[in-house]
Amino acid sequence: MKLGLVTSNRHKLEEYRQGLEPLGVEVEHLDVDCDEIQTETLQDVVRSCLDQLKGAGLSNFMLDDSGLFVPSLNGFPGVYSAYIMDTIGCRGMLRLLEGLGREARFECCIGVCSDELGEFTVTGVSPGMIVREERGTGGFGYDPIFVPEGHELTFAQMDMASKNELSHRGKAMVLLAREMERRMGGRK
Ligand code: IMP
Repeated sequence: MKLGLVTSNRHKLEEYRQGLEPLGVEVEHLDVDCDEIQTETLQDVVRSCLDQLKGAGLSNFMLDDSGLFVPSLNGFPGVYSAYIMDTIGCRGMLRLLEGLGREARFECCIGVCSDELGEFTVTGVSPGMIVREERGTGGFGYDPIFVPEGHELTFAQMDMASKNELSHRGKAMVLLAREMERRMGGRK
């Protein structure tokens, strides 16, 4: 089965290829844009993008929206994660967290729109902690400041296969492959 991935992020594209191809899903890059609406949940952003792109005639594609949620900041930056990364970055997040609880979680909502399988979303969650200083050069975004639960290394210090095993996106990919399998009902 082949699905287009709507993204302008080459790191995400590589993560999807590495995560989904062993699960039998071939990933094609679709360099198209959607307007991310300002709303409370990743799922609403994803559903709105699915509708916009479907309305523009696109089919057999998937996209995701992800965010870092910090309970000591009442869930901030959450759906504002991209804006915060673009304005204050990892350094700014570390400053914001001085003296506060460092527990955090990443969430990734993937939406699929397929002629054969219909439309659905799945959400993967990776709980962890924000460290005190940036560590590592791999990955992207908040990877240098996030350590997944039960581990010592930040996502930026891991290779992509290890990040995919533990990450919000990797977990969402497993749910995605499972849901595709269920909807195919054994068809290949
Ligand atoms: P989006 O899903 O591309 O909209 O991401 C929202 C923000 O979260 C962006 O600033 C990304 O850099 C960041 N982000 C998304 N996924 C990850 C990830 O896997 N690791 C680190 N940061 C991420």
